[in-house]
Amino acid sequence: MASSLIICNWKMYFHHSQAVAWFKMHQEELSTLMSSSLHHMVICPSYDAIAPIANIQSLHSPKGLVGKNGFNKISIGAQDCSAYNEGPYTSQVSAQSLKEIGCSYVIIGHSETRKNQKDTTETSVLKTIQAYEHNLTPIVCIGETRDKYTAGSTLNVLEEQVRPLLELYKKYTKNLVIAYEPVWSIGTNQIPDNEHLERVYDYILRKCARLEIQRIPLLLYGGSVDEEVISRLKAVPEIQGFLIGKASTDFQKLKKIVKLV
Ligand code: PGA
Repeated sequence: MASSLIICNWKMYFHHSQAVAWFKMHQEELSTLMSSSLHHMVICPSYDAIAPIANIQSLHSPKGLVGKNGFNKISIGAQDCSAYNEGPYTSQVSAQSLKEIGCSYVIIGHSETRKNQKDTTETSVLKTIQAYEHNLTPIVCIGETRDKYTAGSTLNVLEEQVRPLLELYKKYTKNLVIAYEPVWSIGTNQIPDNEHLERVYDYILRKCARLEIQRIPLLLYGGSVDEEVISRLKAVPEIQGFLIGKASTDFQKLKKIVKLV
């Protein structure tokens, strides 16, 4: 695979002190690993750990460890942001704040925030606007539930999720990462077969063509990715990287994944 994006979604697996200790312990080896790799990594800890981890990263890599494409080889991202700029939104964190504390990316519309925080396609669009307005690259998650998958309605679900997003992307002409994450695949060790994946990515590409989008968004796969399945997933040519949950919290697994991608 050519240069790929590896997103580490740490969810709420670590407490604050554990997340910071993980990064302190592995930062040097991770930097060495990434500098000799074609790939780019984004670490997404929970909100509380973003600033300390971003500080450690910039301290050890003052000019940023920059790859050939000009991107930092290890960046920091958030797992969500507010759909609003500022105001009476108790508990929310704005895209502007995330930018100020060292984020370059933000995950939007993850199925767990769709389920637990009632995110919808509409809120995902508003959050993507916030990301664009504050120079964060949005990583927008899309995907169908098990019921929709077994009913053969995957593309209908994606139509509803993808169309407004691509229209926005066309308007802003900034970077967009789309992560196809079937809801039924997250944390279950069940991954769709490559034929299904080809159909999904082909659908997104056709959608881009229909909207006359020349610069294709970066397309990722997420859901039960670990070192065991990378080789199989790499056979899908449209996949340009992975969104990894649980396996990304295990440094040994993460190292294997980077080497196999
Ligand atoms: P998982 O999570 O790799 O633990 O299945 C992926 C995700 O939710 O982004």
